[in-house]
Amino acid sequence: MTRNTHNNEKIHLIDLPDGYIETNKPYRLLRPHPVYILAVHDHSREGPGLMTLSWIMPLEPGELTTIMVIDNKNYTTSLLEKNEYFTINITPCHMLKYAKYYGTKSGRYIDKALVTQIRYSYISTNPPIIVLDDSPAFLILRKEEVMRRKITMIIISRIIGSYIKTSSYDIESDTLRLKDSSCLHLYKHRFLSVEGRIIETYMTPWGIAMRSPWRNKK
Ligand SMILES: Cc1cc2nc3c(=O)[nH]c(=O)nc-3n(C[C@H](O)[C@H](O)[C@H](O)COP(=O)(O)O)c2cc1C
Repeated sequence: MTRNTHNNEKIHLIDLPDGYIETNKPYRLLRPHPVYILAVHDHSREGPGLMTLSWIMPLEPGELTTIMVIDNKNYTTSLLEKNEYFTINITPCHMLKYAKYYGTKSGRYIDKALVTQIRYSYISTNPPIIVLDDSPAFLILRKEEVMRRKITMIIISRIIGSYIKTSSYDIESDTLRLKDSSCLHLYKHRFLSVEGRIIETYMTPWGIAMRSPWRNKK
């Protein structure tokens, strides 16, 4: 059978196995993505630039090199051009309100840290390195290579430090406790905890709120 692929390429596909339908949202099959908050120094404000980030993954065995993708439109690209170091802060579901805000508002116009009153610390001032106090774990990254594409900036970085709060450390798995792992992004306003709880974010006159629309059936 000949099918049109998403790029309108004509390829000859052997019949699909029974029971499949085609989706016009292929990128959603690559989800959920874990949710992180990137923190990088903003010299113009002498404070943190904060952006929600999901498109990051290990690049090599040993997992000390990461690759991440940032939209050229985002203010954060200009901050990453000026700074060599930044942090990736693990963002569990209890920090989702921040993640939603930092993922939908641009720091070009708003001091997101100031508006949300998030607690943060400079763990180094030269070079400036910022961590979010409520995050159960964070990674310090050093930028190694930057590639500019038409729409996005691809950044390859080296992990030079990784830290977990002792209260969030699970000895058995030698990593975070499950409830402190990063929340997952399903699509648009809908998120998923690693334990399988669906959470929706929505706007109220007082800011971003969250709710679980239904109890997930086992
Ligand atoms: C869950 C979630 C994940 C996101 N991941 C990315 C990402 O990996 N790369 C990216 O460029 N934008 C991502 N965004 C969008 C940016 O966070 C958003 O455009 C933000 O407003 C940019 O802020 P800035 O202009 O201060 O840099 C994500 C948004 C959300 C809600």
